[in-house]
Amino acid sequence: MLLGVLGSGSGSNLQAILDAIDAGTLDAKVVIVLSDHPDAYILERARLRGIPAHVIDCHGFRNKFPDEAQAAVASQLKGAGVELVCLAGFMRLVKAPLLHAFPNRILNIHPSLLPAFPGIAAWKQALEAGATETGCTVHQVDAGMDTGPVVMQEKLAILPDDTAESLHARIQEIEHRLYPAAIAKIATAN
Ligand code: GRF
Repeated sequence: MLLGVLGSGSGSNLQAILDAIDAGTLDAKVVIVLSDHPDAYILERARLRGIPAHVIDCHGFRNKFPDEAQAAVASQLKGAGVELVCLAGFMRLVKAPLLHAFPNRILNIHPSLLPAFPGIAAWKQALEAGATETGCTVHQVDAGMDTGPVVMQEKLAILPDDTAESLHARIQEIEHRLYPAAIAKIATAN
């Protein structure tokens, strides 16, 4: 299964995917990595592995992901032979041009038990809401924000002395196991 990974940040989930491939627990290959931030460490992680890594031109928009940019990304991914797109901390909403190019073939990882706490900093939302548990979700991407069919989910208890940082760190530990497992599940189902 040839993967394209899109991210805006540190890329620890990309690293977990690469580590699972190295360990032989995920039969896949990351063929391209794209980021909307030229300085994002996810690009560096890819380059260190010799994986083609490119910056997405969002035409100067800070948060929007214009249709032309999505169409350009779709053709870059297609050109690299990508069969499954993995959003890993990618902070822009994917819309029609990409969704149509990869129907039911785009995954996202989100740090909550969706449908609870969609959107930014979901672990903080869970703490502020006084929730006693949260977790993380890998789901198929549709046109909504953090919506779409769930592929895998794992729960985590929120401890009385949890801070935003401690909770996020524990969620990330789960993410790093869950994302490769969810990709493997999709890969073997096809
Ligand atoms: C993860 O917590 C993911 O759930 C969220 O963004 C973060 C990305 O982390 N959507 P990284 O860039 O993979 O380290």
